[in-house]
Amino acid sequence: MSKKIFSGVQPTGNLHLGNYLGAIKNFVNFQNQTNTDCIYCVVDLHAITVKQDPSKLKANIRETTAAFIASGLDHKKSIIFQQSMVASHSEFSWILGCSARMGWLNRMTQFKEKAGKDKEKASVGLYVYPVLMAADILLYDTTHVPVGEDQKQHLELTRDIAQKFNLDFNSNDFLKIPEPMIQKEFARIMSLKDGTKKMSKSDPSEMSRINLNDSKEEIENKIKKAKTDTLALPDNTNELENRPEAKNLLGIYSSLNNQEINKTIKEFSGKSFSEFKKKLSEIAIEKIYPISLEMSKLKKDFTFIDSVLTDGNAKADTISSKKVSEIKKIIGF
Ligand code: TYM
Repeated sequence: MSKKIFSGVQPTGNLHLGNYLGAIKNFVNFQNQTNTDCIYCVVDLHAITVKQDPSKLKANIRETTAAFIASGLDHKKSIIFQQSMVASHSEFSWILGCSARMGWLNRMTQFKEKAGKDKEKASVGLYVYPVLMAADILLYDTTHVPVGEDQKQHLELTRDIAQKFNLDFNSNDFLKIPEPMIQKEFARIMSLKDGTKKMSKSDPSEMSRINLNDSKEEIENKIKKAKTDTLALPDNTNELENRPEAKNLLGIYSSLNNQEINKTIKEFSGKSFSEFKKKLSEIAIEKIYPISLEMSKLKKDFTFIDSVLTDGNAKADTISSKKVSEIKKIIGF
């Protein structure tokens, strides 16, 4: 059976190394596998669950598309599209919202984190956000969803919603139950300033993350200033459990080099952070800077970026509107 891959990234600016290593790099790996259909979405409907500046949103949608392409996605091999332009997503999200249970959504930790202390003031969209995510995935009979660790709970919810829909409408395996594809080792890239906090677009400190559009100097400087501890680098993985910054930096190096963390530990055991950071800078510049360069070129070519999305929107619409027609029949509309 062929694999069907779906994933999405929010166009909220500041795409960073966590997005790349946790998700986008894998999008490219899947694209290059045989018997695999890939669909990657710029999820702008998800972005507006928190306030966005309309004058910046369009640029961020183009920038996220540029990041996909600069990282190696090819619109001739993968469908790359803009969520809001394909109406089935909003439509199916409403329908699935009637299968999802309040109790399930109440357990979502990302809502709790994002809503903060005053959850009465959070948008309803932020609360039902995981239902829209389930709609994205289930519309395309997705078999695998490559994401970072922070999306695991949303994927479990997607599976629950799909099972409930199938059961409620006695429709067997009409909605396919997707598998999360979360890497074992590098699914949670942490802040460069605090190894216990996730690297995040919304962290006010630029020094906490390497952005995909950083210059060589910025990459080098951020790594140089990254928080470490005072010990030499360890000789085994057990020691890393109490050394979050060492664990994170060694993880980033391993992921950029496509190698197991054990190999990296062997390479640097007993060495100082300053020696290690030089090597980490080199590899980060080698892998990330070409993406940054390509993004800045692509960002100027609106015609090309917009044509990639227009083409992808039409393809995504063809697949998903057919699914929505079947869904309407099942429901009795
Ligand atoms: P978003 O836009 O927050 O993040 C995009 C992807 O990047 C991953 N990621 C990380 N991975 C490792 N370490 C980090 N520090 C890190 N930060 C972010 C995320 O896990 C994600 O894979 N809800 C999703 C978007 C979405 C989606 C979907 C994903 C909407 N519909 C359908 C998959 C399938 C989100 O907000 O991702």
